[in-house]
Amino acid sequence: MDYLDDEPWQKWRNEWDLDGSVTYLNHGSFGPSPRVVQQERERWSRELECQPMAFFVDRLEQQLDDAAKKLGALIGASPDDFVFQENATQGMNVVANSVPLNPGDEILLSDHEYGAVHRIWNQRSETTGAKVVVGRLNLAADSPAQLANEFLAQATDRTRLIVVSHVTSPTATILPVHEICDRAQQRDIAICIDGPHALAMLPLNIAKLGCDYYVASGHKWLSAPFGTGFLFVAKRNQQKIRPVITSWGHSVSGRPHSWKHEFNWPGTRDFSSYLVLPAAIDFLQQVGLEEFRLRTHALAQYARERIVELTGLQPGLPDSPSWYGSMVTLPLPGNAPKKLRPGSVDPLQTFLRHEQKIEIPVLQRNGRRFIRVSCHLYNTTEDIDRLVNALKALSPSFLP
Ligand SMILES: Cc1ncc(COP(=O)(O)O)c(C=O)c1O
Repeated sequence: MDYLDDEPWQKWRNEWDLDGSVTYLNHGSFGPSPRVVQQERERWSRELECQPMAFFVDRLEQQLDDAAKKLGALIGASPDDFVFQENATQGMNVVANSVPLNPGDEILLSDHEYGAVHRIWNQRSETTGAKVVVGRLNLAADSPAQLANEFLAQATDRTRLIVVSHVTSPTATILPVHEICDRAQQRDIAICIDGPHALAMLPLNIAKLGCDYYVASGHKWLSAPFGTGFLFVAKRNQQKIRPVITSWGHSVSGRPHSWKHEFNWPGTRDFSSYLVLPAAIDFLQQVGLEEFRLRTHALAQYARERIVELTGLQPGLPDSPSWYGSMVTLPLPGNAPKKLRPGSVDPLQTFLRHEQKIEIPVLQRNGRRFIRVSCHLYNTTEDIDRLVNALKALSPSFLP
């Protein structure tokens, strides 16, 4: 099958209510959900509003169990071993607040971690006296095993935890987390995987991975509603884990104690986003998860080919689905503009957004500029052609 033929995918594209005047190539930051998922969320909210007591007290826990069962089958984890969270950031904060750290202890993060993740651990190091060590990931390593070995060589006998992405945010790289987890376990070092981009983009089997913690967001590649995530905690750590929000800590319907009760009721909220996870999974299963991966990877590969052809700049990663999935980061010519203030974006991103109506992140890294192209079911080769044409039309200072 030719996964670059847009025609058979048109029917799935029609499932989204996207603004037709915008070319949206940023699912990796904020992934909109298909109509059926939005409708399901509205349905749950209406049920809550009709009879809040019946919803919260009689039905909620069973519905959360059902949603967890469905999600557990997708991620390869028992529903007893993970809790719903607003997002990966919340999950990472829980881990940071729970892992016991003493002055002199080390937390090893890779140099490809998400900015907020660095900040979470830097703050934790300030309050505990532990040290954050940023280890280099050698993406040019000959094999995943070599990459894992070189990374783990930066752990010491004071390393208490390793934090590493499954799919990195700035470089869109699939990391060999199996190998990294293996090496961490051999050295008896706890490991937390930051996995928001891996959920749906890659087949997951968290139980087999053997990590201590895994956090993810459903509002990226799974296209679940905004505000859906989970935190997996290996059984050995469940009694020590503490939520960031203290509430009742017990079942609202009188069930026997479980570690999950500390998390399941973070005060009164609209739980509908979590209850819609099964609908988001059903939607992608209807498409076929493998088909979804093949199509979106083909689009990312097409973007890679076209942008490399335009810039003449080779990306650092081999052209293989083992290294990147539905999202690809590509180098752009020239140096990055002078360091940007936190919260401000590269002028090229602003130009593409306002002048060309193309939503796409332009990133800065080690003084260079990169563009990250995300491809979901609503994207087409035409979207990528539009991006390439917009880049082509830029001044000669952009293209050498
Ligand atoms: C690798 C990585 N980790 C964590 C996050 C934070 O995700 P969220 O904002 O859903 O908490 C992101 C968001 O883009 C990310 O790319």
